[in-house]
Amino acid sequence: MREESEVAMIGNVATMALVGVLVAVSLCSCASGAGGEPGGAPPARSLKDAFAGRFHVGAALGGGLFREPGQPTLGLVARQFGTISPENVLKWGPFNPRSRVYNHEGADAFVKFGRRNGMFVVGHVLFWHSQTPDWVFEDSRGKPIGREALLKRMRERVRHVASRYRKHIDAWDVVNEAILDNGKMRKSKWLEVLGDGWIEDAFRIAGEELPRSTKLLYNDYSMTMRGRRDAVVRLVRELKRKKIRIDGVGMQGHWSLGGPRIRDIEKSIVAFHEAGVDVHITELDVDVLPRKAGMWGADVAKRLEGDPTMDPYRDGLPEEMQRKLAKRYADLFGLFLKHSDKIERVTFWGVTDRHSWLNNWPIKGRTNYPLLFDREGRPKPAFDAVINVARDSAEAVKTR
Ligand code: XIL
Repeated sequence: MREESEVAMIGNVATMALVGVLVAVSLCSCASGAGGEPGGAPPARSLKDAFAGRFHVGAALGGGLFREPGQPTLGLVARQFGTISPENVLKWGPFNPRSRVYNHEGADAFVKFGRRNGMFVVGHVLFWHSQTPDWVFEDSRGKPIGREALLKRMRERVRHVASRYRKHIDAWDVVNEAILDNGKMRKSKWLEVLGDGWIEDAFRIAGEELPRSTKLLYNDYSMTMRGRRDAVVRLVRELKRKKIRIDGVGMQGHWSLGGPRIRDIEKSIVAFHEAGVDVHITELDVDVLPRKAGMWGADVAKRLEGDPTMDPYRDGLPEEMQRKLAKRYADLFGLFLKHSDKIERVTFWGVTDRHSWLNNWPIKGRTNYPLLFDREGRPKPAFDAVINVARDSAEAVKTR
């Protein structure tokens, strides 16, 4: 009995290995663009091809990428990803720092790059408590403005981006991070001036000003916390009941090696889907560095002082940690594939480890390794693990 199953297993492994080689060959031959990744690695197998037909795979791009001529990371992005998000250039502060003053350059370059490469282009973010300038909430003498004046400014912002990028942005994070872990509303100027219904106000304006084809999303971190998950489900149902358009929920996905648990992520994916919207994994990264208690989530206002014990991998990530990261990513993408009927997009928050915001948050100046490409743009073991998950799943579908 034992012998038989061992023989069967060896047979399976041999078949799988053969299939693996065949699929790897076919993946290589259909990968777009010749040549290796920066750093001289072999020709790319691409994430966008590996998950084609399941969900888009993408990355957030920092504004700096467009200011450095001949920047190799953009080539990597074009080969690997089918969707892009702007890390900062479309946020209210960077985009429109003073009344009637606009920085279009960065946003235009971002959108143009996406269009040129036939990508699903995401706008991030219309309304957020962070990176929004004070002038938005004040009159010309610096006095707080009232509800109607603020609604008018919100509408002006949406009209402005609609007139400039109407046909070129496929989805917008309409509201970011307005709900707390316990499901209550976050205290912010938005809440102060507009009251509890402010998320609804924002979606009403976005729905009226943006084309129907633009996906409108509510986006937040720690979406596996029960209080927040339930509140977001209630929000979606309430907007739908009132016929205010919401098309998706963005789960940021700033996660770590140890948490949240796959089954808790799964619960949220299923809950949002059942509420009637698509799920977007919008800001995926896996933090491998130590954190102190109370520092989970992605609250940008939180900052810690560092000490060397909090930055243990300055000279490189040990192999064992690479393996753990690869396993974590394999588990995550296994889950995403299981629910690919509910998931429209998976976007990493950054392209290579060099540019990740986690080198500077929650502690400045650390050396973190949260993404699939290393500091030179070379695929890491986690990249192979993710590609293998797609390959194994494609095989399972074929043989079913
Ligand atoms: C971060 C950017 O990556 C940084 O460059 C910037 O300094 C702060 O914001 N959640 C979000 C993103 O929705 O907008 C944040 O991006 C990361 C957390």
